[in-house]
Amino acid sequence: MTSQPHVAIVGATGAVGREMLVCLEERNFPLSKLTLLASARSAGQKFSFRGEELTVEELTDKSFEGIDIALFSAGGGISLHYAPLAAAAGCIVIDNSSAFRMDPEVPLVVPEINAAAAANHPKNIIANPNCSTIITLMGLAPLHRAFGLTGIIASTYQAVSGSGAQGILELEDQMKALVNGTPVEMSVYPHQIASNVIPHVDAFQDNGYTKEEQKMLHEGRKILNLPGLKVTCTCVRVPVMRSHSISVTAIFEKDPTVEAARAAFEGQPGVELVDDPAKGLYPVPLGTTGLNNCQVGRIRKDQVLPNALALWVVGDQVRKGAALNAVQIAEILS
Ligand code: A2P
Repeated sequence: MTSQPHVAIVGATGAVGREMLVCLEERNFPLSKLTLLASARSAGQKFSFRGEELTVEELTDKSFEGIDIALFSAGGGISLHYAPLAAAAGCIVIDNSSAFRMDPEVPLVVPEINAAAAANHPKNIIANPNCSTIITLMGLAPLHRAFGLTGIIASTYQAVSGSGAQGILELEDQMKALVNGTPVEMSVYPHQIASNVIPHVDAFQDNGYTKEEQKMLHEGRKILNLPGLKVTCTCVRVPVMRSHSISVTAIFEKDPTVEAARAAFEGQPGVELVDDPAKGLYPVPLGTTGLNNCQVGRIRKDQVLPNALALWVVGDQVRKGAALNAVQIAEILS
């Protein structure tokens, strides 16, 4: 990999794509050129990057000639078609969709947890994990290293940003309609999301869980290299703009004290403790919005299960749950 790669963002006009641009700029990512790609609808749109105006180009089969790294965030269908074309053109794809995550020849990487896995990418594709999984594991990885994780029982509180720009617009429009007393329109979610919570994220499967809930299980096992990890999860969409929250009971081989659990977070990159309930201090979604770090709080002994802790993890879904994690993977490569 050249030290000044030519980078492309596929889906540059989307909620995650736009944040990728911000992360590349903020982190002063070393690149020789940045190409912005989206659908024909957006061709010609302008975005500013390092003081220059970049023009969005239409994504085509020929878009990847000369590109070294492509950050994909345009949905699974686009990834399935274009990522192999990009990879064949010699480009390394960092894919934010679920299309390749469980492929044994595609590493699934959270840099703070398993950066070494990124080195072996025989298909020229590296997958960015599911957003709730990334944020949950950012809160659990330090505890796993200290006490040996064996199981996760989780409920997620997922922001509308996880559904892309359309999800954000739908919540904004519905909130305005509620205030103005006009009819509430729905297109992204199966129920009104404003003033509601919906225990349905992604499609239901035969076992009663949704695909999103099973991602925590399968992706968690792959990232942590724990094939026997047990996970049960309920994923819930909440009327929050961005930043996902996860209530977790985590079960360990060793019995953790709360003090030892807190100590496990000292010096860990990408995650910080916000845990002083007596002062009203615990993570909240608005408090992590725009931040790179995930936050952990409410750490306490689980009252039901042995060797278990209950905790609350929050992180910016658009940043660490998607764009930032992808840019961090690109940093490992260059
Ligand atoms: P566009 O804005 O041109 O539709 P989000 O997840 O926030 O909705 O963003 C999805 C991203 O994927 C957008 O940048 C969108 O571009 C892009 N996208 C969707 N369909 C296509 C397509 N057929 N070809 C290229 N990019 C696409």
